[in-house]
Amino acid sequence: MSHQGIFGGKRIVLGVTGGIAAYKAATVCSRLVQAGALVDVVMTEAAQKFISQLTFQALTHRPIYTDMFHIPGGENIPHIVLADSADLLLIAPATANTIGKVANGLADNLLSAIALATPAPKLMAPAMETDMWRHPATQRNVATLKGWGIEFIGPAAGRLASGAMGEGRLVEPDEIVAAAQMILARQGDLAGRTVVVTAGGTREAIDPVRFVSNHSSGKMGYAVAEAARDRGAQVTLITLANLPAPFGMAVVRVDSAQEMLDAVLTATDQATALIMAAAVADFRPLTVAEQKIKKRGDTEGLVLELVRNPDILAEVAARKATGTGPEITVGFAAETHDLLANAQEKLKRKRLDLIVANDVTATDAGFAVDTNRVTLLGTDGSIEETPLMTKREVAETILDRVARFLMDS
Ligand code: C5P
Repeated sequence: MSHQGIFGGKRIVLGVTGGIAAYKAATVCSRLVQAGALVDVVMTEAAQKFISQLTFQALTHRPIYTDMFHIPGGENIPHIVLADSADLLLIAPATANTIGKVANGLADNLLSAIALATPAPKLMAPAMETDMWRHPATQRNVATLKGWGIEFIGPAAGRLASGAMGEGRLVEPDEIVAAAQMILARQGDLAGRTVVVTAGGTREAIDPVRFVSNHSSGKMGYAVAEAARDRGAQVTLITLANLPAPFGMAVVRVDSAQEMLDAVLTATDQATALIMAAAVADFRPLTVAEQKIKKRGDTEGLVLELVRNPDILAEVAARKATGTGPEITVGFAAETHDLLANAQEKLKRKRLDLIVANDVTATDAGFAVDTNRVTLLGTDGSIEETPLMTKREVAETILDRVARFLMDS
């Protein structure tokens, strides 16, 4: 299904209006196309004074719509076709003029007609001089549109085209794309669900400067968290991975397995699903030295005594047995040998609904790389092997299974 990028197959009508920020719409358009969206660009007459149709045509490989009465390719009336097919109408930049037209029900150009005709969710990214933005007419129009459920992103404060500083700048293209993504996610198959994901290894302190850890990069868990977010879930990501925090989710930073356990138990209290992609350390030093351990005199070595860490999934399973905790638990099995037998055993022992087994000795799968090849083992005895895919694609495959469980339950 959604394996073609975060906007996989979504139809977005991108309305570009006539402000100097129109050039930034090209970046927005390019990002959307790269992320798998089918983008139909509608330009107002003024927009074409700032940026050429050709730019958008080259980016989308699709006809550009500018005129109510000119039908590219000779199909149906464009405002009806575009209005009916859109999953989202995004107007970026949105001028005071276009905001005013839509708020007052005018339909005197193609874009305002589509805005009136489409049932799709709408997102506007305003850009204009501060005085225009602050004008009571604009503010009233924005309030009217918000009252109808139309969403706004920005404007930001900063340097304006006039050289003045103030409120009215178009927000950055990446933020616009992220906001569009959040809106589309509400139509996803995990909308309204709460998903907790763990990612990366854990760090078990030896002394204030040293720790025991492993090679897990956190990439697989991050991919799962981002995919769940894009399918509409409310996500809590519990991690110590050294990766930038993804937008649109709660990120809980932890260090040791014990801290991860506490965070998981708190977060899963009300959650639909727990996906434990973290490589939790099985052992930790028995004691943590209060001060840095010094090499002394002629001592040749140091013996570290390790003790078992709590098994987070086992603790969650114990809670599940008492009727609390997540409905669905997914574990991972990173193995160097006897992959399937070990994974089967964990599936049962940890009372999981699904286990994702991967052979971490492969160089193109497992730790740190961007690709993975896994085997999904279900409690129903099913065994599904995936080909080598990106971690995002593996994440989508796992979530396909989670969504299916939810449909069946
Ligand atoms: O038993 P093993 O560590 O191989 O099982 C791996 C699965 O169990 C992973 O999903 C991992 O996140 C989870 N795990 C855990 N608590 C531990 C160790 C692993 O929840 N202490």
